[in-house]
Amino acid sequence: MSEILLDAVDLTKHYGSVEALRGASFQARAGEVTALIGDNGAGKSTLVKCLSGAEQPTSGRILLDGTEVHLDSPVAARRLGIETVYQDLAVAPDLDPAANLFLGREIPRKGLLGKLGMLDKAEMRRQAVTEFEKLGVTLQSTEVSIGSLSGGQRQSVAVARSVAWASKVVFMDEPTAALGVRQRGRVLDVIKKVRDKGIAVVLISHNMPEVLSVSDRIEVLLQGKRVARFAGADTKLEDLVAAMTGALVQEEAA
Ligand SMILES: Nc1ncnc2c1ncn2[C@@H]1O[C@H](COP(=O)(O)OP(=O)(O)O)[C@@H](O)[C@H]1O
Ligand SMILES: [Mg+2]
Repeated sequence: MSEILLDAVDLTKHYGSVEALRGASFQARAGEVTALIGDNGAGKSTLVKCLSGAEQPTSGRILLDGTEVHLDSPVAARRLGIETVYQDLAVAPDLDPAANLFLGREIPRKGLLGKLGMLDKAEMRRQAVTEFEKLGVTLQSTEVSIGSLSGGQRQSVAVARSVAWASKVVFMDEPTAALGVRQRGRVLDVIKKVRDKGIAVVLISHNMPEVLSVSDRIEVLLQGKRVARFAGADTKLEDLVAAMTGALVQEEAA
């Protein structure tokens, strides 16, 4: 069993009078896929936002490698090796895949031209092709704008970008929701490759067969709290459904 890499303890998040998280705990381990499941409104996206710096919890503690961290922004989280593929896909449609991969981390040209703000596009393209290939994502051309790619290819670029930079944790909020069956299989293959690099992958998905096929562990949120957790291999679909609806509550999971 691998070590706990990310440990969220008793998080609350209030939006005005709405309590999106009510003492939620969550753990993810290096080299494992942890699924985070729950009904609509359970607090999954809010939890991911708090753990990736997009939102700050109202109270609670977040530990990375055993050290308490304060994720004040997505940039702060990225510096610590935490990347996120958000539910509402965040790629820049007018840029090509390489430019998307390096968005916010562009490589400058060497020497004076670089100091004048010129970018080394050839180098970024070379690295982008390598990164995409590592993940089994082949694009016909790296010079087309993202907007002209299919939904599946766009999603692959968003996934490739986050996993190329992640060194510790990748959150994927419904990464396959908009995809067809074949593309879905590709994203699941990418998830397994990233896990095998020793990264903690956190998968949010409504697709229970998908969750059961790829997850090493499953944590269940209900009304802003963790109500159950399971080891992936020997979990039954009925147990997941029971936990999501509140019919099965494990006291020790809170
Ligand atoms: N920015 C926000 N402002 C107000 N309420 C929010 C906001 N974001 C989420 N909520 C509320 O918090 C609860 C949890 O939402 P969310 O985290 O999106 O759940 P999930 O991703 O599990 O569907 C819901 O009741 C939702 O309406
Ligand atoms: Mg959500």
